[in-house]
Amino acid sequence: EKAGYASFMLKEIAEQPKAVADTLLGRIDGSGALSLDEVRIPPQVLREVDKVVVVACGTAYHAGLIAKYAIEHWTRIPCEVELASEFRYRDPILDQQTLVVAISQSGETMDTLMALRHAREQGARVLAICNTNGSTIPRESDAVLYTHAGPEVAVASTKAFLTQLVACYLVALYLGQVRGTKYGDEIGDVVRDLSGISGAVEQVLGTMDPVRELARSLAHKKTVLFLGRHVGHPVALEGALKLKELAYMHAEGFAAGELKHGPIALIEEDLPVVVVVPSPRGRSILHDKIVSNIQEIRARGARTIVIAEEGDEAVVPYADHLVRIPATPTLLQPLVATVPLQVFACELATARGNEVDQPRNLAKSVTVE
Ligand code: F6R
Repeated sequence: EKAGYASFMLKEIAEQPKAVADTLLGRIDGSGALSLDEVRIPPQVLREVDKVVVVACGTAYHAGLIAKYAIEHWTRIPCEVELASEFRYRDPILDQQTLVVAISQSGETMDTLMALRHAREQGARVLAICNTNGSTIPRESDAVLYTHAGPEVAVASTKAFLTQLVACYLVALYLGQVRGTKYGDEIGDVVRDLSGISGAVEQVLGTMDPVRELARSLAHKKTVLFLGRHVGHPVALEGALKLKELAYMHAEGFAAGELKHGPIALIEEDLPVVVVVPSPRGRSILHDKIVSNIQEIRARGARTIVIAEEGDEAVVPYADHLVRIPATPTLLQPLVATVPLQVFACELATARGNEVDQPRNLAKSVTVE
């Protein structure tokens, strides 16, 4: 039941620190190494993988887009991510050395199921990342890594998304560990950072009042844009999807670097634009580029809503609204940056009088193609 929350969605947003912690539980041993014996694909087979292909739909697809950055960085194995509904109609190139990762909360999404069947027919190994024990997708896969988000009732996915990200990071790090890559040391550090991430999500949840207030003040708007770079790009796509499905508003996510190739023409006076800013530490080039993007859109009248790490002072002069998130390594930032976008969409939808748990025209699990 809703346990005192006004909606399942609010409850599920609040449950995210626990969902994240539960998904990590038992998967990191005392020495900080990953122990994913439950993934019953022999290490020998994983060492021979020469391509990873992620297939998923909707929010799970956004998790896959983020997984690509992690997998390619930590394993140096080429990774493609494809919408499950497009995948098999393209005659994709697959063989025994291909690892297909199928991500699905419900485990019953027909598009994803058909994609994995197609992959197995071509001889590829399929690893499912799934939240529902014993559902069809893990049953038909070679191996499964369960997310432990607990039942997700609200149609719009929130806690399942965060746990899909955790599972994707675990798979990427595990592949890196099994294969031994030049990022071996980094892997140990990231595993430690991952262990602290549930607390960081909790911290974000404790600072959401201004985001709610902002969302209510924008309830009359027609359009909201979302910008990001690197892993912030899929986060922007996810923020836009949440707003479409819950608030029934026109929302679009863009790669900030693409702005000047077209979308900047959309910017007009007082248009709300949410910008996900990468950490100024780490790959600081990304950060500097996005600060100039914020300047560009603000000069054209956009109302900038900036999601930036604590201590990032460079964004302050250009942020009409500033949302602070805790410092994390670049690749893990989606785990904290997505949370304000979920809260924003949920509150905005509520202010518009929408039923957030059951958005119009949508079903929790899409069992038709
Ligand atoms: C968005 C949403 C959908 C699902 C998609 C895949 O909030 O819930 O986009 O993410 O239908 O569903 P699963 O993960 O069950 O395969």
